[in-house]
Amino acid sequence: MLAGKRILLIIGGGIAAFKALDVIRRLRDQGAIVTPVLTRAGQEFVTPLSASALAAQKVYTDLFDLTDEAEMGHIELSRASDLVVVVPATADLMAKMANGHADDLASTLLMATDKRVLIAPAMNVRMWDHPATRRNAETLRGDGVLFAGPVEGAMACGEFGPGRMAEPEKIVAAIRDALANGPLKGRHVLVTSGPTHEPIDPVRYIANRSSGAQGGAIARALSALGAEVSFVTGPASAPRPEGVRVTEVETAEQMLNAVTASLPADAAVFAAAVADWRMETQQTGKIKKTAAGDVPALSLTENPDILAHVAHLNDMRPRLVVGFAAETDDVVAHATAKRARKGCDWIVANDVSPETGIMGGTENAVTLITEAGAEAWPRMSKDQVAARLAGKIAEALA
Ligand code: CTP
Repeated sequence: MLAGKRILLIIGGGIAAFKALDVIRRLRDQGAIVTPVLTRAGQEFVTPLSASALAAQKVYTDLFDLTDEAEMGHIELSRASDLVVVVPATADLMAKMANGHADDLASTLLMATDKRVLIAPAMNVRMWDHPATRRNAETLRGDGVLFAGPVEGAMACGEFGPGRMAEPEKIVAAIRDALANGPLKGRHVLVTSGPTHEPIDPVRYIANRSSGAQGGAIARALSALGAEVSFVTGPASAPRPEGVRVTEVETAEQMLNAVTASLPADAAVFAAAVADWRMETQQTGKIKKTAAGDVPALSLTENPDILAHVAHLNDMRPRLVVGFAAETDDVVAHATAKRARKGCDWIVANDVSPETGIMGGTENAVTLITEAGAEAWPRMSKDQVAARLAGKIAEALA
């Protein structure tokens, strides 16, 4: 259910913090990847070592840890997850969130994230009922923050009433709901990814450098917003996204068949680097060297254009068709022409010149081309490009 979902878990400083460890264990049991962040007060209740041992991940504790900044900046950390969860959310942390403070790692991550945030408040009943906390809770709800609890019950301080943290299993259920009820809930989105391999003979093939990293990240980002994702991938080196329907293919023709079989869809994103050509005739045996040293002439024929095919369908055309354009020069001009030629709604154009390091790398610098024109996005990680694109797709389908 939570397979492959990435959760940034901020552990605040309260007596209920020890229950965050149980939340980590339960999330991991369901296949989630949990990155813990401990506030300074959180470390009074839970040690970084125990959080990291249960999560099997590095724990982040301080904004000014230069090693962390070099490894993964706070902006990236705040966005490389599908959901940000705060367990427990203390009165102080809620106040910081409601007022936009960013004076430590946790509050900075909460300010910098572009993901939804779910909090599990835990505090003394009087603190929960205090007008300041009432105001802050209302502000946070208005900001779209999701709440798990608090519930009524006996407290560590001996009092009874609302303010007790929801039980770990309830928090995990709220996390599941949050991930399943995103803006793309009920939408089916098709994503193609990776290269295709076109056989030359039984042992050789034509390929390209696509790793499938961007396509996989897009599938994960769409799924995190609640979409049902059909992921059709060629032989890519990047890990397959979890929690989506994966169809593995090898050639462009197989990809076209798998794509057609996956329709109808509300939107389709064609991130695959499909080989433009395949061998004209199928070789059943390995092409051998000849005594005369003749070099074989490889006679090629054009592959079907999957994107153009789907974009020109009459009855089954997805409402939003998004293509990619891999270019090495005049990126915007070529991509704009490609958008018109292929009949798609948007083109995500990227410069794949070797010196950019984009193809096969972890970052991307894209320009989104729509009917309205070209919008250049700053260079960012492929995960961030995916999150931004998924957000735009959700807006377009709303
Ligand atoms: N595409 C596709 N089927 C093909 C070729 C490309 O679906 N046979 C899709 C890609 O997934 C991408 C878009 O078309 O979304 C553009 O791919 P790109 O390689 O940039 O363009 P080409 O069509 O190959 O054009 P050119 O070789 O002129 O750049």
